[in-house]
Amino acid sequence: MSASRSPLPLRPLGSTGLTVPALGLGAGRIGGPETSDAEVDRLVATALDIGATLFDTARSYGASEERLGRALAGRRQGVLLSTKLGYGVPGVPDWTGPAITAGVDGALGRLRTEVIDIVHLHSCPREVLERGEVIEALLRAVRDGKVRVAAYSGEDDALEWAIRSGAFGSVQCSVSLVDQGVLDRCVPRAAEAGIGVLAKRPLGNAPWRFERRPEATDVAEAWDRFAALRIERGELSWEALAARFAAFAPGVSAILLGTANPAHLAAVAQAIGDGPLPEAVLTSLREAHARAGRGWSGRI
Ligand SMILES: NC(=O)c1ccc[n+]([C@@H]2O[C@H](COP(=O)([O-])OP(=O)(O)OC[C@H]3O[C@@H](n4cnc5c(N)ncnc54)[C@H](OP(=O)(O)O)[C@@H]3O)[C@@H](O)[C@H]2O)c1
Repeated sequence: MSASRSPLPLRPLGSTGLTVPALGLGAGRIGGPETSDAEVDRLVATALDIGATLFDTARSYGASEERLGRALAGRRQGVLLSTKLGYGVPGVPDWTGPAITAGVDGALGRLRTEVIDIVHLHSCPREVLERGEVIEALLRAVRDGKVRVAAYSGEDDALEWAIRSGAFGSVQCSVSLVDQGVLDRCVPRAAEAGIGVLAKRPLGNAPWRFERRPEATDVAEAWDRFAALRIERGELSWEALAARFAAFAPGVSAILLGTANPAHLAAVAQAIGDGPLPEAVLTSLREAHARAGRGWSGRI
């Protein structure tokens, strides 16, 4: 499939001036030894081929930043790079101005680029945001031309604060069948304010894959929620139902699919090409959440 035949819709990332494809690659699964460089190359090639030209990584995803930088070397044009930081700089206390400044410089080097399109403060609490120092350092990186869009990644109270602050051009939060709470408040508010929204965990970690409750805490929580929702998928695959739900949720700019498998990425692109879910299906999914999911917090 060539990029020009991509079925992926293109959307403005809020009022940032960037345009994003409705599907990006969440590169959280390519940082470890279980994935080889050759596999990363194949995954990145598929992403570019289908038009999923948005790549989301983070300081905490092992070798993900370096590997993306290597795989995308010489192919930076037309690609959107997103990363997350705020911690993990040797000798620098986490969540300080210097941690942001050095974090941006480090990410520029690992990603082999002169400017990063979107940089998120990665799940820092509201108190850190309120102190102002990390936001100021991130905005300085924007003024210095190292970052295009200052962004926040997080949930609940901190996310609400970030949206209200007016400091960020984009936010990243969980949006999925099992993470619908954000669609009631934060996502519509962000959209109204011209703030882009990148939907993380868009399949809700695909809990339908597991017959028994999985051990990983985040996936186990998704599994519990999924069981409580009692959703029926009708004739669609679970992946298609979940991907179309998140990708076409009002206010969502793009979903970030976590996969190391090119076929899984292509399948989700194909599903998005089928467009929004039928209204009746959507209503039943929203009703299921209203019945069972009241009070569920955003999954970091
Ligand atoms: N900001 C944050 O704090 C934060 C937190 C979590 C996630 N994120 C972002 O969101 C991205 C996605 O999150 P996530 O990976 O936790 O959740 P996710 O995308 O909802 O689910 C990923 C899981 O679904 C499976 N999967 C993907 N496509 C599939 C398909 N077509 N068919 C069957 N299974 C499929 C993947 O396995 P396979 O590898 O086998 O495909 C993987 O185990 C991350 O990479 C990251 O960019 C950000």
